[in-house]
Order: sequence, then structure tokens, then C-alpha cells
Amino acid sequence: MPEVAQPRNISLAVTGASGSIYAAEILRALVADTRVTKINFVVSGSSLRVLAEELHLSGRNDLAEKLIGAASPKIQQHTESDIGANIASGSYPTAAMIILPCSMGTLAHIANGLADNLIHRAADVCLKENRPLILCVRETPFNRIHLRNMQLASDAGATIFPAIPTLYNHPQTTQDMARNFIHRVLAHIGLPQPNAYQWQPD
Ligand SMILES: Cc1cc2nc3c(=O)[nH]c(=O)nc-3n(C[C@H](O)[C@H](O)[C@H](O)COP(=O)(O)O)c2cc1C
Repeated sequence: MPEVAQPRNISLAVTGASGSIYAAEILRALVADTRVTKINFVVSGSSLRVLAEELHLSGRNDLAEKLIGAASPKIQQHTESDIGANIASGSYPTAAMIILPCSMGTLAHIANGLADNLIHRAADVCLKENRPLILCVRETPFNRIHLRNMQLASDAGATIFPAIPTLYNHPQTTQDMARNFIHRVLAHIGLPQPNAYQWQPD
């Protein structure tokens, strides 16, 4: 994928698949990245259940702050039901949208054009405006419906970027694993991270 010219305005959605630590790490990296001036942040209702299970966080209020340990003026959190939010419109200049993790339910909605919440609608807008849409899908095993929906979303212009960590960088912690993964996602939308692991062949 070509580099995004001015990757300043990023949408991040978190849905109800396993992998809350990825959401925390990518939000932290986006906040720290001086090239990013605005983060439109949306979480699904189901993701709150997973966040409670995996990170022992509860409630939607101040969720970004709870995830990364500090508030940031760059983050605007939207409710999933607010289909009148800025990112629901193609006239709003979103540079790229990342859904991490992306559940099979959200994938199905996007792949089939069923834009009935803000996450689905903002993704639909990225596809119609030919903007990068990164779906970090997570499920195992995949059934044929999941596979078909990935194909449909990919054909429509989304990048299927499965939330699968690497081991060749010898991660010592789940945070190491998550960081390496989110570095790959950010590089993919033109935001390479200075501390990213790079494979050094012999
Ligand atoms: C602890 C937990 C883990 C889950 N993990 C996954 C998963 O990895 N992938 C997935 O597609 N759904 C997973 N689910 C189910 C989704 O949360 C559920 O299908 C939900 O309706 C998705 O809604 P959303 O796409 O609006 O977030 C999980 C649910 C729970 C409670």
C-alpha cells in the first residue's frame, strides 16, 4: 500500500474480539506520534465485555484514558450509536481507519454493506472514498462465512491484517508481541515507528 500523504487524522475502532492489549498499544502509539493530530476513537458494546475480561477495565467513560493511563487532547471518543459523528461522513478528512481487534460480526457488517452503527458506517465511508481501511480480524478457526466475508471486504478495498503476532523477534512479554504487531499496522498506513523491530537477515 502506498504511503498516506498526510496521515494526521486516524480513526481507531475496537470491537468485541480477543486482543484488547493491541487496542491499548496502538492507542498509546498514536497518541505519542507527532504526525497524528487527531484520533477518532469508537468502541463497540461487545468490546467493553472483552476489555473487562482481558484488561479488567470497566465502563465506556474515559475509556481511552483508562487504556493508556493518561488523557490526550488528540482523542475524541464517539459512541457506537452516534451515526452523526464526524467520521460518518465522507466530507470529513479521515486519513485511515484501523479496526483492532476486528470481530467476525463487525467484519460481516462491513463486508455486506450493513452500516448500522458508527463503526460500520465509518468503515463503509473509507471504502467508498478509497481510503485505507485496516481490518485486524481475530478468530480461530475461520468458518467459510468468515473467509467469504474477508474476501468480500478485501475485494471492496479493505486490508485484511489478521491479529497474529510474530515470534521471530523473540518477544518476552505479551506487550512485546502486541507492540511488534501494531508497529506493522502503523507502518502499513504510512506511520513507520522509530523503535520498530526490523528483521536482520544473516
Ligand atoms: C471474551 C470474549 C472474547 C471474544 N473473542 C472473539 C474473537 O476473538 N473473535 C470474534 O469474532 N468474536 C469474539 N467474541 C464474540 C464477539 O464479541 C461477539 O460476536 C460480538 O457480537 C461482536 O460484536 P461487535 O462486532 O459489535 O463488537 C468474543 C466475546 C467475548 C466475550
